[in-house]
Amino acid sequence: LKEDPSLPPAVRIKLNNFDVELGDGESKKGTRVKVYGRIQHIRAQKHTTFITIKDGYGILQCIFPTGPLTQNYEALLFAQETALVVYGEMRAVPPGHKVPGNRELHVDYFEVLGRAPCDLDAITNKVSMQQDVWDAQMLDNRHLVLRGENASAVMKLREAVELAFIDTYREMEFRKVSPPAMVQTQVEGGATLFKYDYYGEEAYLTQSSQLYLETVIQSLGNVYCIEKSFRAEKSLTRRHLSEYTHVEAELDFIDFNDLLDHIEELISRVVDKVLADDTARGYIEKLNPGFKKPTRPFLRMRYEEAIEWLNKQDPPILNEEGKPHQFGDDIAEAAERKMTDIINRPILLTHFPVEIKAFYMKKDPKDPRVTESVDVLMPGVGEIVGGSMRMDDYDELIEAYKKNGIPHEPYYWYTDQRKYGSSPHGGYGLGLERFLAWLANQHTVRTTCLYPRFMGRCKP
Ligand code: 4AD
Repeated sequence: LKEDPSLPPAVRIKLNNFDVELGDGESKKGTRVKVYGRIQHIRAQKHTTFITIKDGYGILQCIFPTGPLTQNYEALLFAQETALVVYGEMRAVPPGHKVPGNRELHVDYFEVLGRAPCDLDAITNKVSMQQDVWDAQMLDNRHLVLRGENASAVMKLREAVELAFIDTYREMEFRKVSPPAMVQTQVEGGATLFKYDYYGEEAYLTQSSQLYLETVIQSLGNVYCIEKSFRAEKSLTRRHLSEYTHVEAELDFIDFNDLLDHIEELISRVVDKVLADDTARGYIEKLNPGFKKPTRPFLRMRYEEAIEWLNKQDPPILNEEGKPHQFGDDIAEAAERKMTDIINRPILLTHFPVEIKAFYMKKDPKDPRVTESVDVLMPGVGEIVGGSMRMDDYDELIEAYKKNGIPHEPYYWYTDQRKYGSSPHGGYGLGLERFLAWLANQHTVRTTCLYPRFMGRCKP
């Protein structure tokens, strides 16, 4: 195969570039372009082979007339994912034909850059939003699954969501920081700590950046971070990962209501931003058709009311021991999800009992049995945010370490905040994978991150 030297030089484009002249196949010539990409789909007919190529930016239908362009060794080996460079004239699609972008490439020359075997279809097309399609083969082949349309749409949406958080925080005047991942303190309990040897000392992978965020509000104002958190979760659920992306923020000089208002505002603005972006909205429409942004205000419900609500259902929603819920029970994942699905709107669930919450949470001054804490629950997923006001009294915090069996020495830098100009403050953490599972209607958080990590899975 040789390129015809009498043809005009080709302009290299990416597939999101629509700034080219479209020919009409008769007197009007379109731009001659050069496109790098991989084969997504092949459909061979008698006179023409239609090949859709993709380059990570878009897709393009390419028309190969039957003849020298198709009857050669390389073309016979075309398969899904073959990498190639295609040259040809860009033309408008004839009326009545439905083709993405309303343009197609009439190929006059190509070169193959990387061949692919013919068995990929079976892998990439199996990935879907279906609830039961998740097996070891898919996980082992995650690197190929990610080439599929659905899996890559989730990743593109994920980027848009992350950028929407960054934009929203910037508008709200929060400062972005980057706390360490290697730490020597726990935040959310010893049971889920990943321990490792740090030059002979015991250290952990961070469970949350919260404590570090609390140490910089004094000089930086309200702060946030989007960092990895690690949890040695010993159960396999559809919403637990060992490594996840944690969107965390800390707000200074606030009360509990300010915190709740802020969380609702943040989530709403992020959803608005994503929907306002045509491309990102397209991914949501593809992955979660019929998605409606949540109406405001979000339902606010105290833990104690939730316990009553669970027991009032017919039949009652029981606790993990199969008994009616009592004040002090953890609302387990199953019960929480049932409640969220029945109520079917975001819930800010507040005022959890002291005993079931972390050591640092501030008690409700009006009811010391409970904390000024909040979980945000979303239909389909359950908890996506956990937050609270923080204990700002020095003695109370020292007492809390004791009560929770935590040695206070390693936390000196955290405790010090209560010595040097303490202030009423609070914050929260949002699991990005769970937020996406809700937004993109994914059955599990395992499809909302590139390479999921959970018990028994640390590859690829
Ligand atoms: O409720 P959590 O444990 O709260 C904290 O870590 C606080 N220190 C955060 C803070 O106040 N800055 O976790 C917060 C959120 C959860 O609501 C959930 O969305 C997510 O982090 N999360 C997980 N996501 C995936 N896999 C896991 N194993 C997760 N554990 C928590």
